[in-house]
Amino acid sequence: MDVLDEIKLFLGCETPDAWIDEALKNQDLLLIDHAHCEKKAASTAMTLMFRYVDRTDLLNKMSRLAREELIHFEQVLAIMEARGVEYCHLSPARYAGGLREIVRTSEPGRLIDVLIIGAFIEARSCERFAKLAPYLDEELAKFYRSLLKSEGRHYQDYLNLAEGYAGEPIDARIAEFRALESALIQREDEEFRFHSGVPG
Ligand SMILES: [Fe+2]
Ligand SMILES: [Fe+2]
Repeated sequence: MDVLDEIKLFLGCETPDAWIDEALKNQDLLLIDHAHCEKKAASTAMTLMFRYVDRTDLLNKMSRLAREELIHFEQVLAIMEARGVEYCHLSPARYAGGLREIVRTSEPGRLIDVLIIGAFIEARSCERFAKLAPYLDEELAKFYRSLLKSEGRHYQDYLNLAEGYAGEPIDARIAEFRALESALIQREDEEFRFHSGVPG
């Protein structure tokens, strides 16, 4: 089974077709928010590196992940520049904040939850790149397909770290995040973003 098949089983729902339609109508906004997401992914990985200095496996995996996300960020910026799309501030999607609402406050629960969220965000990004690619122009389709591989590995890294550090089965906790993530993806959102729900 390749990682995309694994991700489709991991996620509780597929991206709704209405989101794909909205993305195709808002490709400039898609690129701008995508750039923000790559930058945020690097920043989140670095926050973990500052918070958990005694976890060598985490430090190595997050360091590599942060570098890769910053390369993705530069690649999105280059595509935006070539297309005359101007980078600007955007309010974030409600998605990541919604996932963080149930993060436990004491350790190691807090770390495990943040790693599980990382796995879901990477998995959802991967699934969206794959579902969008057939409808995009050749350049963007090629770029999004190229991202699948690294985002798929990031999903596996986050999940393996969560399982390793928990030291006990985390299936029940993953199921709670799966239900929440699916609800966030299927609810209505006024503003279109890379991780928004169904257009309101
Ligand atoms: Fe990325
Ligand atoms: Fe990633």
